[in-house]
Amino acid sequence: MGLTRKDLLEIRSLEPGEIQTILDTAVSMKEIASREIKKVPALRGKTVVNLFLEPSTRTRTSFEIAGKWLSADVVNVSGSSSSVVKGETLIDTARNIEAMSPDCVVIRHAASGAAHMLARVLRCSVVNAGDGMHEHPTQALLDLLTIREKRGHLDGLSVAIVGDIAHSRVARSNIAGMRKMGMSVTVAGPPTLIPPGVEELGVKVARRLEDALRDVDVIMMLRLQQERMTANYIPSLREYSRLYGLSLEKLRGARDDVLIMHPGPVNRGIEMAPEVADGPYSVILEQVANGVAVRMAILYLLIGAKGTEA
Ligand code: CP
Repeated sequence: MGLTRKDLLEIRSLEPGEIQTILDTAVSMKEIASREIKKVPALRGKTVVNLFLEPSTRTRTSFEIAGKWLSADVVNVSGSSSSVVKGETLIDTARNIEAMSPDCVVIRHAASGAAHMLARVLRCSVVNAGDGMHEHPTQALLDLLTIREKRGHLDGLSVAIVGDIAHSRVARSNIAGMRKMGMSVTVAGPPTLIPPGVEELGVKVARRLEDALRDVDVIMMLRLQQERMTANYIPSLREYSRLYGLSLEKLRGARDDVLIMHPGPVNRGIEMAPEVADGPYSVILEQVANGVAVRMAILYLLIGAKGTEA
């Protein structure tokens, strides 16, 4: 069965049952990655436009691979190669793309709310691939899939999300998704990068990284979103790294079966030491692999699951 909604814009408004459906569908999609011929006809005749007006490696590539493995026609439009650079508005760009009859537009944009705005004016499905500081729902879904795969369940698990919470759409989507799925969340970072009132989202706040790490099942490190910062939030990168960077030494205070996650791109030596990023607890590349499966599931459930089987 597909999702009954037209768009996937945020985790905040998803029901736990919908999250479960997406994760279960992603599990069935994973098998396709191991085939010699990675192609099923589920989205044959469908067109997906990737409209990425902000840089991306993982999300854009995985949406393209996901669409292609499901036999959709996938078209990529990037900011630098589009008429946005000539002054065209987002709405005009989207309406012109829709005039070519795509079934789904996947949008990444620096402005919070950009995906919602497109969803209101376009008849086709819209998927939010990250909008400003608001949400990155497909990232949270692939993170939940990775945790569920490793632990067998989500309910009752505890997570520490560490770093630049204030500017992070990944943190916002993950907090919403994890709370919905019965997980407990602690956020940690410099006081300037913890949004006031974050406790209202149902999370605990730890000021010291060492306190946040103790006894959690998962540690999720975040990148400093310097492109979204409008002031100096930290004294220096060196100071930030000393206090909030995950080193092997700090990791000694964590559980010996802890999972270490990062949405990427990783700034090695700042939020995470290279030996931690590449170490035995790290599931960072498994997150990336699961990104393809989750995006296949989302495309299939939104535009392909009307009476067809994958
Ligand atoms: N995690 C993530 O969104 O990575 P990209 O910016 O490379 O897509």
